Amino acid sequence: MYDVLVPRIQAAEAIGVSSVALERWQENGKLRPAKLHRTTGEAWYSTDQISEALARREEERVARSLSTADFRFIDLFAGIGGLRIGFDEAGGQSVFSSEIDRFACQTYAANFGEWPDGDITRTEIDEIPEHDILLGGFPCQPFSIAGVSKYGSLGWDHGFQHPTKGTLFFHVARIIAERQPPAFVLENVKNLMSHDRGKTWQVIRATLEDELGYHVYHRIIDAKAVVPQHRERIFIIGFRERVDFAWPDFIDEGLRVRDILDPNPDPKYTLSNHLWTYLQEYAEKHKRAGNGFGFGLVDLDGTTRTLSARYYKDGSEILIPQEGKNPRRLTPRECARLMGFPETFKIPVSDTQAYKQFGNAVVAKVGSHIARAVVEALQGVYPIRQEARQLQALETSD
Ligand SMILES: C[S@@+](CC[C@H](N)C(=O)[O-])C[C@H]1O[C@@H](n2cnc3c(N)ncnc32)[C@H](O)[C@@H]1O
Repeated sequence: MYDVLVPRIQAAEAIGVSSVALERWQENGKLRPAKLHRTTGEAWYSTDQISEALARREEERVARSLSTADFRFIDLFAGIGGLRIGFDEAGGQSVFSSEIDRFACQTYAANFGEWPDGDITRTEIDEIPEHDILLGGFPCQPFSIAGVSKYGSLGWDHGFQHPTKGTLFFHVARIIAERQPPAFVLENVKNLMSHDRGKTWQVIRATLEDELGYHVYHRIIDAKAVVPQHRERIFIIGFRERVDFAWPDFIDEGLRVRDILDPNPDPKYTLSNHLWTYLQEYAEKHKRAGNGFGFGLVDLDGTTRTLSARYYKDGSEILIPQEGKNPRRLTPRECARLMGFPETFKIPVSDTQAYKQFGNAVVAKVGSHIARAVVEALQGVYPIRQEARQLQALETSD
């Protein structure tokens, strides 16, 4: 049957979202236009697409209203949901997620049945539902103004120049300010604390504690107790009310690299003679020059270095020795295990994308410990289930 096409503005109106939302969805693959105008680039959507988008929104609304979840969370800078897994397990329901990269969205959708919304910097506050816990692993950026004494208000309503303006952290703070969730969990690289000679952390802490009034805890956690990987990340946890929060104990599970390896990996993961020779020569050259650089041939009874998003390039930071053969890189499935993801986690993307995604992720097993500790602390103060229900009642009565 002939399918009618409508331009973006009308499509957005029909679906009940803003035209900017459709642009974000186009960018991250959530809803691609049926056609782009050859010269103006204007996006057109088919009536089938509009009906499907409407049906999906309705399904989500019904699922939320029927949900028996204990609490509701949002997942910002969602990546492939490493942090989210623990909050699902702890009885939570995701009510909003945001991720700009379409390949990460593809993996997220395959595993959680939800295609995240796109660029958070272009998301209006009223598109973000009320929630109990905000999750966010924002990329670290420098702030423009030194020190925290020059401002006293977040200022998005008053036009003041806030030092975090123009950064992704600003958008996290903006959502916390507007939505006032009972708790948030932010994750970042370890050097957030020393970034820009400590100024970045100073501004973040002052914004969360002094301006937003949250009780903030932070700790650098090394995942090596729960996975055979040395990976230090800072977790910043805030509570709206004073709670009795205790960091989880990470008891050493004794996992070694050999425990996560595939018995018969595809030969394509073995380094070519050319690459292996190059890596050895490069390391030798740096050694002679007194630099520490070298590839990371792992001890199978130990832990690996940190898996980075650049692993797809040559895999030199984590190389698996092999009897009578050149070393090999990890397979994507082995990376999933090294990042503490469950064996059932689906990997629907290319190896290159998978390496980037796992290298960027939160170690899922660390997230699970954090989730349990946060939920326990909240339950000590008031039953979050009750608050979630009240919010649901309000929303469904619209
Ligand atoms: C460190 S990773 C997140 C890890 C993830 N939270 C987890 O639990 O595994 C940061 C993510 O932020 C995404 N990102 C960067 N800028 C963004 C933006 N403006 N809007 C939405 N997502 C963004 C990146 O694509 C990347 O996947």
